[in-house]
Amino acid sequence: MLKSVDLSLLPLPAAPLLPLPPGEGRGEGIATRTTLTRPSSKARGLFTALATLLLTTPALANDLGRPATPAEIAAWDIDIRPDGQGLPEGGGTPADGEPIYNDRCASCHGVFGEGEGRWPVLTGGDGTLQDDRPVKTIGSYWPYASTVWDYIHRAMPFGDAQSLSDDEVYALTAYVLYMNDIIDDEDFELTRETFGEIEMPNEGGFIADERPDTMTLAKGEPCMSDCTDGPVKITMRAAVLDVTPQTEATTDEGETVMVAAAAPAFDAGLAEKGKKVFKKCGACHQVGEKAKNRTGPLLNGVIGKEAGAVEKFRYSKAMKKAAAEGLIWNAETLGWYLEAPRTYMKGTKMSFKGLSDEDDRAAVIEYLKQFE
Ligand code: HEC
Ligand code: HEC
Repeated sequence: MLKSVDLSLLPLPAAPLLPLPPGEGRGEGIATRTTLTRPSSKARGLFTALATLLLTTPALANDLGRPATPAEIAAWDIDIRPDGQGLPEGGGTPADGEPIYNDRCASCHGVFGEGEGRWPVLTGGDGTLQDDRPVKTIGSYWPYASTVWDYIHRAMPFGDAQSLSDDEVYALTAYVLYMNDIIDDEDFELTRETFGEIEMPNEGGFIADERPDTMTLAKGEPCMSDCTDGPVKITMRAAVLDVTPQTEATTDEGETVMVAAAAPAFDAGLAEKGKKVFKKCGACHQVGEKAKNRTGPLLNGVIGKEAGAVEKFRYSKAMKKAAAEGLIWNAETLGWYLEAPRTYMKGTKMSFKGLSDEDDRAAVIEYLKQFE
């Protein structure tokens, strides 16, 4: 039950950094990279909006969602903080990192981090931050080494993100820092314990920005309980906000609200009835373990699947078009199709007049659900 939201799970870390204004520190910079290790502001906005929704609509909160599992949280919670919080076990040296870098990174970033073609540079730019066109690299600009670990782990190699082991990320981070002359010794082992020894050249070029950075916080301390006098009222429906599959339910107070649609239970009796109806389909369609395409495609797993997706079946143009437009077979869409195939999908190859009886349609759809 999601009755309250644990604020410690919200992405609201310590104050972001702003580059120091000219003359006040080592470097000038434009604040394009103030939130290096955090989700995009858009993603955070959405997250905050969702959290706010949950917090402000207690009547809904009881029926919405389920707590995230530890595995789901672990998969999401991969940020590494400036103080090294979040770093895993393991380690690697620049010497370990060099061959991995040459194999998996140099094709884009260049053997010396100078950047091939127009791919990003990872080195250089020292002393250019006050220039008209500053070259901002890990060495010249980034305030924290933790961001290097986080970025490589999260996003690199480009196109094959998160394929590196933790040891490889340590080794690559060490090697990138070595290429930037931030680590001198090629046998220095970067680990959770030694991370604190790294000093980034431009760390002093930033100031902490203490302004609250979300709308909710900008309005003051958010209210976390008993936030309204009198009875709780529904002021906005999830369906209108477009965040939730729609099913109506009635609260204890007799109000009708939208709740997330639970997966309907399988109705074995109805499916049994559907088995008889399926005789009408059997001339063209097969189901079950040995099912093959006949006049019509095999129908295993068709419920919940994209239309026109059975391999090697030659669908009509009409079906291919519907598939390209994103048609998914569920109880509703398949019901429409089965009621009058050629009215619902002009040009379909399924020469079948249709099932006019709604109960027959529901039954045969229930029957199809059991074939994976
Ligand atoms: C196919 C090309 C490609 C490969 C291979 C690749 N990268 Fe990148 N890398 C990119 C691109 C593109 C960006 C910029 C991404 C963006 O800004 O969204 C980037 C950005 C980076 C950055 C941030 C640079 C900055 O200043 O913003 C680092 C660090 C980095 N890559 C490290 C690596 C490492 C380490 C590897 C090898 C494991 C690697 N990359 C492999 C294309 C590549
Ligand atoms: C005369 C042969 C025939 C009969 C009878 C028939 N179908 Fe079909 N069915 C087809 C053909 C052919 C297609 C492919 C349609 C296309 O490509 O436009 C099809 C397509 C379908 C699809 C879409 C499959 C996909 O992969 O997207 C479903 C679902 C389906 N039929 C269910 C049924 C059911 C249920 C019945 C019985 C109530 C039935 N059909 C009766 C020939 C038939």
